[in-house]
Amino acid sequence: MTRQEARIQSRRLLMLLRYLRLSLPVLILAAFLGGCGPDPHSAEPSPLKPTATSLVEAEAARFLEKHWARPLAPQGKLPASVSAQGISLAPQSCASCHASQFKDWNDSLHSRAMGPGIMGQLQEMPAHARDDHQSCIRCHAPLAEQADSLVAALEKQAGKQAGGKPGIRPLHQQGLVCAACHVRNNAWYGQPRRDGSQPVGDPSAYPHGGWKASRAFESSQFCAACHQFEDDEYALNGKLLENTYKEWQDSRYARQGVSCQSCHMPDRRHLWRGIHDPEMVKKGVGIRAGAASIANGQVAARLSVANTGVGHYFPTYVTPRVVIRGFQQDAAGHKLDGTEQQFVIGRQVTLDLSTEIADTRIAPDAEATFDYRMPRHGRAVSLMWQAEVQPDAFYLEFYVSLLQSEMKGSSRQLITQARDSASASPYIVFSRRLALP
Ligand code: HEC
Ligand code: HEC
Ligand code: HEC
Ligand code: HEC
Ligand code: HEC
Repeated sequence: MTRQEARIQSRRLLMLLRYLRLSLPVLILAAFLGGCGPDPHSAEPSPLKPTATSLVEAEAARFLEKHWARPLAPQGKLPASVSAQGISLAPQSCASCHASQFKDWNDSLHSRAMGPGIMGQLQEMPAHARDDHQSCIRCHAPLAEQADSLVAALEKQAGKQAGGKPGIRPLHQQGLVCAACHVRNNAWYGQPRRDGSQPVGDPSAYPHGGWKASRAFESSQFCAACHQFEDDEYALNGKLLENTYKEWQDSRYARQGVSCQSCHMPDRRHLWRGIHDPEMVKKGVGIRAGAASIANGQVAARLSVANTGVGHYFPTYVTPRVVIRGFQQDAAGHKLDGTEQQFVIGRQVTLDLSTEIADTRIAPDAEATFDYRMPRHGRAVSLMWQAEVQPDAFYLEFYVSLLQSEMKGSSRQLITQARDSASASPYIVFSRRLALP
């Protein structure tokens, strides 16, 4: 970018940010992930249209249309028999009997779905703007009781940082809680037992009155409620901003019956590991470096990255970026100036989401190749390849620019925290040193 372009860009950003102060951080992201349009909330609750042909999938679609009809209805008063068992909507209350699910969930990003990055933005909204809150929390903290808890916290906040006593986070801060997926109208829902059976007989003989079993929990459509935009939601360059379910549907995994859960909840575990987890990424991609050669004083080498086990594009969202670097090194292993070449894997968009800059994501079973070509440096003895995963690349830039705008002290504190954790998330997933002939 030239300096003048940079100036124009930063002026544009400033204008945008001034607009942002009037609660736009939110709107931008709403356009981004919430799918905006005139009034997304008055629209019919919008789970998926049944695309699947099988009976099970069609039935799952019917179940999920109700299950994920947002805003979710309040649960009402918990039956005394259930509260007598010490059960509430708080995940901690499930932990005594479902310890392994609790532990896995607690380590997952679903439990951190109301982190400082989103809270810093919600705090800039009026405390009672419930519809505005919904445009975010319908995915990040969807229970009606969480919407109430958020309003209460925003009211109380009045200059102070929202947050409960240490140790007991209020319900909205706990993000995508167990009950958001498993409890409606104080009734528990889950999948059939592993042997296919369901609770029979007197429901009151079971904790929380047993549960209603539905195979919808085993369907990828269950996840699509939050990981897929509707056809009329925000699209850029003709492609929806969130398209994970459809990417999966077009892949061989859908044909082979390998669901989101098969990869992200193996053996029914509540892990949900993704781009933030190096081991998960290594499982999904194959990276190979060919030998380096020299011809006419030019160093040449090829790196290939294959999507061998990701059930959608690698990566699926606009937020992560994978940066491939090739550079020459001297005998002591130091990088030699002027020899680096960079390649990006990702769907790069401008911060205001108005333009797609490039889309170099790798489709399931596809492969991308990167060719390094640079003059050989006088002291070069080897060529180094590195692949760095930046899981929060878009948000990092977004937080940095947000911090240049005016915002409440407490929001600034949260966004600063979010910026720091986003800048700490990159990791090197692959590196290979090739001797030069
Ligand atoms: C007092 C112990 C206890 C507590 C607390 C408890 N559960 Fe359960 N839960 C059980 C038992 C026992 C079963 C039945 C297992 C069976 O019969 O196979 C069960 C079944 C379930 C199932 C169905 C399992 C399946 O096979 O699909 C789900 C889902 C579930 N509980 C979720 C929750 C959630 C969410 C919470 C907290 C809001 C919770 N439970 C709190 C004991 C408990
Ligand atoms: C109610 C909405 C909702 C549902 C349903 C849901 N998710 Fe999520 N999921 C989210 C949100 C929000 C995040 C981002 C959390 C954060 O980082 O703040 C997320 C994050 C993730 C991540 C972590 C991504 C990363 O960056 O590493 C994975 C993997 C994931 N979800 C998979 C699933 C799967 C599989 C299902 C279905 C079983 C599912 N989700 C169902 C809302 C949902
Ligand atoms: C359709 C579901 C959905 C809606 C609506 C939604 N998000 Fe998200 N959000 C996600 C998913 C999925 C991720 C994780 C993947 C990613 O990073 O893009 C995420 C990630 C984030 C992150 C980065 C991770 C974190 O927790 O720090 C922030 C910040 C965020 N969303 C803020 C918002 C805000 C603000 C709104 C409302 C304007 C909103 N989201 C609306 C699904 C949603
Ligand atoms: C994002 C939605 C989501 C959240 C949040 C969630 N679950 Fe689940 N849960 C599922 C799905 C989907 C399945 C079925 C998984 C499969 O088929 O592989 C499941 C299965 C279960 C089962 C049956 C497991 C088995 O081995 O039979 C239990 C019990 C359960 N969940 C409890 C919990 C508890 C407790 C929490 C919170 C600590 C929780 N869930 C959070 C979606 C969720
Ligand atoms: C065949 C295994 C597989 C299937 C099926 C699969 N995923 Fe993934 N998923 C992965 C792997 C591996 C990663 C890590 C690499 C990456 O981020 O692309 C990942 C990453 C993610 C991420 C992190 C964000 C990002 O930008 O990549 C989310 C969210 C996610 N998956 C959701 C889903 C949902 C929702 C489905 C079902 C519609 C699904 N996945 C199906 C293997 C799978």
